[in-house]
Amino acid sequence: MKKILITGGAGFVGSSISIALKENFQGCDVIVLDNLYRKGSELNLPRLKSNGIKFIRGDVRNPKDIEQAGKMDFLIECSAEPSVLAGKDGDTDYLIQTNLYGALNCAEYCRKSNAGMLFLSTSRVYPFEKLLKCGLHETEKRFDFSEKQDIAGISPEGLTEKFPMDGARSLYGATKYASEIMLAEYRDRFSIPVIINRCGVIAGPWQFGKSDQGIAVFWTAAHIFKKTLKYIGFGGSGKQVRDFLHIKDLIDLIIMQLKTPEAFSAEKIFNAGGGKKTSASLIELSGICAEITGNSLSIAAEKETRYADIPVYITDNSKINAFRGWSPRRSMRDIIADINDWIKNTPEASRLFESN
Ligand SMILES: NC(=O)c1ccc[n+]([C@@H]2O[C@H](COP(=O)([O-])OP(=O)(O)OC[C@H]3O[C@@H](n4cnc5c(N)ncnc54)[C@H](O)[C@@H]3O)[C@@H](O)[C@H]2O)c1
Repeated sequence: MKKILITGGAGFVGSSISIALKENFQGCDVIVLDNLYRKGSELNLPRLKSNGIKFIRGDVRNPKDIEQAGKMDFLIECSAEPSVLAGKDGDTDYLIQTNLYGALNCAEYCRKSNAGMLFLSTSRVYPFEKLLKCGLHETEKRFDFSEKQDIAGISPEGLTEKFPMDGARSLYGATKYASEIMLAEYRDRFSIPVIINRCGVIAGPWQFGKSDQGIAVFWTAAHIFKKTLKYIGFGGSGKQVRDFLHIKDLIDLIIMQLKTPEAFSAEKIFNAGGGKKTSASLIELSGICAEITGNSLSIAAEKETRYADIPVYITDNSKINAFRGWSPRRSMRDIIADINDWIKNTPEASRLFESN
């Protein structure tokens, strides 16, 4: 790897990967392209600069902007409108143009430069219509998947890549799934390595979390600054569960994948998430946030469930684990403690979360 382009590289995942690659691939040029659409991404620019990473202000919707980067060996596509609620009111243009056409522009650029590509896909490609039909086990603080299931690819350990793909999945999930399908064709037709990771919630420092995306940071910041929080949906119980992947665990995986991209590309798709051990309900997340920040909040309840919301998502990482032994090493507490330290010790992050 001599030259790597990270699109959306000023965002949470992109900036963290860029800096890690610069540290791990000696002598490698890392170039970031981002249009700074996400509030907070501009705060990542000084970090990129001080790590010797070149920044191009550009838009993945415009192929000419991507070409400005020159010839690359590899592209990691991290740009997106990443909210599952995006487009639900009918304003779908930005979502589709960025997430789908933007990903295709990246693939086209890789084809022309004969470069490999890594695509950050999402657990949201799995249809919520199907997930709402899965058997649940309910305890005092959380929902889990039950032992008995009538649907393939699901167990108490979570969803495997064999989970059925028919049904509505949200506009966000659909843009990502459509991109996956097109990228698979680019892999097959043009013989470029294409690695696809389907991630659950990713969390950690330098994520400018908001209520509809980046929940671990949003929840921790609300505890630090004693803001109002609500348990929304599922009767306002706060029992909905997600798995959380520490950004450093994702980076460990991506560094491994970039060392032998062809091998990972040949396996087509990997689920990569926090898994059952690193999953938490909102009630459990509140408990950890209270313990780590020292502030306990009284949390309101809103009964009505939102569009595309699901009671549980947990990643079954058994495919990637069997293939190369990867599994997340950081715990839920590590994630919240690292976010808490970052917000408290970073004035620009504190200012942003306190004023939101
Ligand atoms: N964070 C998660 O929990 C999570 C989970 C699964 C998948 N993903 C995927 O990982 C990737 C990175 O997500 P993130 O959490 O870092 O989000 P983010 O919003 O922090 O970063 C995305 C970046 O893309 C940029 N961007 C948006 N539109 C653009 C455009 N048209 N042209 C160029 N840049 C543009 C934004 O300014 C931002 O800096 C996304 O593809 C997302 O779908 C994220």
